[in-house]
Amino acid sequence: MPNSLKTTTSSSRAGDALSIRFKALQKHCLNHEHVWDIGCDHGLLGLSFIDHHHVQSIHLVDPSGPVIETLKKKVKDSYITIGRIFITHSKGQDLKINSLSNCIFIAGMGGKEIGEIITKLLPQLDSSSRIVISPHRKILELRELLGQLPISLLSEEVIFENEQYYQILCLSPEVGHKVPPFGQEMWGSEVGKRYREHQLKHFGPHTDEASKAYVNFLVTSKSLESSL
Ligand SMILES: C[S@@+](CC[C@H](N)C(=O)[O-])C[C@H]1O[C@@H](n2cnc3c(N)ncnc32)[C@H](O)[C@@H]1O
Repeated sequence: MPNSLKTTTSSSRAGDALSIRFKALQKHCLNHEHVWDIGCDHGLLGLSFIDHHHVQSIHLVDPSGPVIETLKKKVKDSYITIGRIFITHSKGQDLKINSLSNCIFIAGMGGKEIGEIITKLLPQLDSSSRIVISPHRKILELRELLGQLPISLLSEEVIFENEQYYQILCLSPEVGHKVPPFGQEMWGSEVGKRYREHQLKHFGPHTDEASKAYVNFLVTSKSLESSL
């Protein structure tokens, strides 16, 4: 990334280094030609593709006026050529995507907004496109919605950064392996095991049916694992 675009954020305390979360998101963009960073804020994730030559356009999208103004200034003041960067003042729900081969990132938003954005964008995407998400809240509700949409889960993982856990899901607009409500492969890693304990502690006292079902799943998967 050009020097003047390297910025320290709450999720990138090392300054130059892309955060663990951003790296975990970024790796899902393979040969995609168009990158969309929806809810981009500082734009670090989208702009990290500046040196990826297969990427023909980088779209930085955010509904906040001040965010858009800051981004425009940041890009103008840097020495990168603006040609491949498009800064759009919009909610993700209102976007129109006409291109093929898109990698769409939606990170750092609540599950409700992410669910709405995916529902709106899904009919606009071709089968080679990917949607990569990292919801910060209401993940159970989002997973339930995703399980009902014509979308498939390609991979999932949980990462730990700055004392917080983040689920990262890579989705394809092709019908295939449905998104499981409570996750599957992410529990096997060392971080996944710690995340399960964290989730048990957090959801254990909840009395609603969805939380009880989740806790039941976590307890069962833990005892299955220890019996192996
Ligand atoms: C916490 S920041 C996340 C920034 C970055 N994506 C990350 O993961 O670090 C959330 C951003 O989402 C934007 N946002 C909120 N609602 C949105 C929506 N419906 N569509 C697109 N962006 C939205 C906010 O303006 C804000 O800049």
